Amino acid sequence: MAKLWAGRTSGEVNAAADDFNSSIRFDSRMFRQDITGSMAHAAMLGARGIITPAEADALIAGLQGILDDLEAGRLTVDPAAEDIHMFVEQVLTERLGDVGKKLHTARSRNDQVALDLRMYLRGEIDEISASLKALAAVLTKQAEANIDVIMPGYTHLQRAQPILFSHHMMAYAMMLLRDMDRLADCRKRMNLSPIGACALAGTSYDTDRRMEARELGFDGVVRNSLDAVADRDFCLELMSAFSILMMHLSRLSEELILWSSWEFRFIALSDDFTTGSSIMPQKKNPDMAELVRGKTGRVYGDLMALLTAMKGLPLAYNKDMQEDKEAVFDACDTVKACLGICIPMLDGMTVLGENTRRAAQTGFINATDLADYLVGKGLPFRTAYKISGELVAECIRRGCVLEELPMEAYRAHSELIGEDVYAAIDLVSCVEKRTSEGGTCRASVESQIAYVKEVLNA
Ligand code: ARG
Repeated sequence: MAKLWAGRTSGEVNAAADDFNSSIRFDSRMFRQDITGSMAHAAMLGARGIITPAEADALIAGLQGILDDLEAGRLTVDPAAEDIHMFVEQVLTERLGDVGKKLHTARSRNDQVALDLRMYLRGEIDEISASLKALAAVLTKQAEANIDVIMPGYTHLQRAQPILFSHHMMAYAMMLLRDMDRLADCRKRMNLSPIGACALAGTSYDTDRRMEARELGFDGVVRNSLDAVADRDFCLELMSAFSILMMHLSRLSEELILWSSWEFRFIALSDDFTTGSSIMPQKKNPDMAELVRGKTGRVYGDLMALLTAMKGLPLAYNKDMQEDKEAVFDACDTVKACLGICIPMLDGMTVLGENTRRAAQTGFINATDLADYLVGKGLPFRTAYKISGELVAECIRRGCVLEELPMEAYRAHSELIGEDVYAAIDLVSCVEKRTSEGGTCRASVESQIAYVKEVLNA
């Protein structure tokens, strides 16, 4: 295909160079945004008298025809085209003749590609936000279904204090609410229109940038033409938010992997989200959770790739910036795929409450409560802490747990201890006493659930 930009040069490019330069393989996914953007541009050119109203109508109808044909598969993207912008303009000119050549008035591919990308990515944000909502709702549903299930809470992956499984689920729901917030915040800055900045300096045509921005659903325009074409912060912010979001999914996956092991047996993943081994008949592997954890590295890599590509670029546009799309598209695809797996995987997870409770009964995770009990009897915390620790050591010597230690053994360590100690260190009461705001008692978890539901329904 002859280059639309042939003129200064013959437009004949070495075949390997042409292929190296082309972005059509990955930017053709923006064809809808490219065409819609061009339609708004044609309308603006017509409204401002830069082209005639009839020409504007012809361009818009021609663009609509290309869009319809692409959607219906009557037209396929030419893999030899330089990029999606050139492809659409080329087809338009083939179909309309000279009028087609007027579309690119008061515009450049530099502002055009920035426009397409902002429009494409804000659509991705909307889709991904909806998936995040769905995942937060599934976590909340699991919390409600397992509201009273007791499990050990961990620090250093050592059993620490008893908590409710529902409290653990809601911790992840809170992370996802923050992820949604970050995406909404990123979308605000993304949703400004760069079109009309042209190549870098603006234009001498009497254009109306705000009209195009309004038409295309933007909240306003980028205020500096150099910035409009040189900025890829919106991609970087998005991938930063994605990186944090993937880190959350990865931590959740890690717990699912641990919890579904024979060592823990806290949950069972549904069969259809696990795989077998080709050699070991007994295996039920959490491959999906492992892949989510693994793919997190990819998204971090996408962010690093673009940060690095951008760091040395002089203003304004440089071809290096074409590298933005593969990175940001891969990040979007990966996040969508991972959320798409996490939602049903979490939904189908079975919580093995007997096992989590049994695990909570060993490991002396009520030792803090025993110390608090002694504080209640008048001892300073540090002294109470020491006695509680000695009682744990006593239990380890005897091979029992604090709940089973006989009264005489307790009283040998402290005269302050009475029969009420057994109620004080009972796991349910340990959980129910954690009434501080945000704590693990049932009422607190219920109010967290109510809060998350309110945010999700807003
Ligand atoms: N395919 C190019 C990109 O993705 C479009 C912009 C080209 N601009 C230019 N001046 N060559 O970045």
